[in-house]
Amino acid sequence: MKGIILAGGTGSRLWPLTKALSKQLMPIYDKPMIYYPLATLMMSGIREILIITTPEDLPLFKKLLSNGNQLGCRFEYAIQSEPKGLAEAFIIGKKFIGNSRVALILGDNIFYGNGLEQLLKENYKPKGGIIYGYHVNNPKRYGVVEFDETGKAISIVEKPEMPKSNFAIPGIYFYDNEVVSIAESIKPSKRNELEITDVNKAYLELGKLQVSVLDKGIAWLDTGTFSSLMQASQFVQVIEERQGLKIGCIEEVAFTQGYIDTEQLKALAEPLLKSGYGEYLMNLIK
Ligand code: TTP
Repeated sequence: MKGIILAGGTGSRLWPLTKALSKQLMPIYDKPMIYYPLATLMMSGIREILIITTPEDLPLFKKLLSNGNQLGCRFEYAIQSEPKGLAEAFIIGKKFIGNSRVALILGDNIFYGNGLEQLLKENYKPKGGIIYGYHVNNPKRYGVVEFDETGKAISIVEKPEMPKSNFAIPGIYFYDNEVVSIAESIKPSKRNELEITDVNKAYLELGKLQVSVLDKGIAWLDTGTFSSLMQASQFVQVIEERQGLKIGCIEEVAFTQGYIDTEQLKALAEPLLKSGYGEYLMNLIK
């Protein structure tokens, strides 16, 4: 299975913060935002990852993450010249995906919690699509899924005025290879975007969409507004300072998943010693 991180967009709800710099490079406490979705893909067992971003931001992501070798992974980069929708990721990434299955994660979505790794690893071989529903207070800003009494998903609506449930669809999606042809077949929406909701609806109509409810013990944060960006930083700070364990630490994930060995981890830690981040990595070896 391959992975795609979608890290383009305009970030206009965060202007002027994101006028000159990608939202996904903004700090979430002690690391750039993209570390969190990247760590999530890596802990799902995915090592071949395509990062899609804007032409202006691409060199910065390359500077930050390079080709992935240092983490025992392989990263590729591609450009989305305009934010034409989440489903365009599968068209831009067609060659990268090849004959594989693919997971898509949004570059501004943070997942954290007990059992997450296990849950994600179960999605390694989706027959069709696998997405989640997550109970939120105000689902209007998201794709919303409605379930019948037996827990089966029966409808999906993008940003509904009158949501039929409180279950929003978080920005992590797992698909078989058919996703490429489905993305190519859908038409842009009224707001002129290729909607991921239309991809999910196509799978639903084919009877090939599995929608599981994410346990409430798992935190799903998005970071698109001033207050949610701040809250995400505070959340990470509280957990990290209390536990002494990091969230979204890509070097740690690479080490614990066995993608890199002790020597490679040391090499990653050394330039980071002054900030304390490197010391954390060194302590993992001890
Ligand atoms: P959004 O938060 O919907 O859009 P945005 O990031 O451009 O922000 P704003 O609404 O403030 O202008 O996007 C969710 C994530 O998906 C975010 O990480 C950016 C990414 N994205 C793309 O990379 N390409 C796209 O075409 C879209 C719509 C989003």
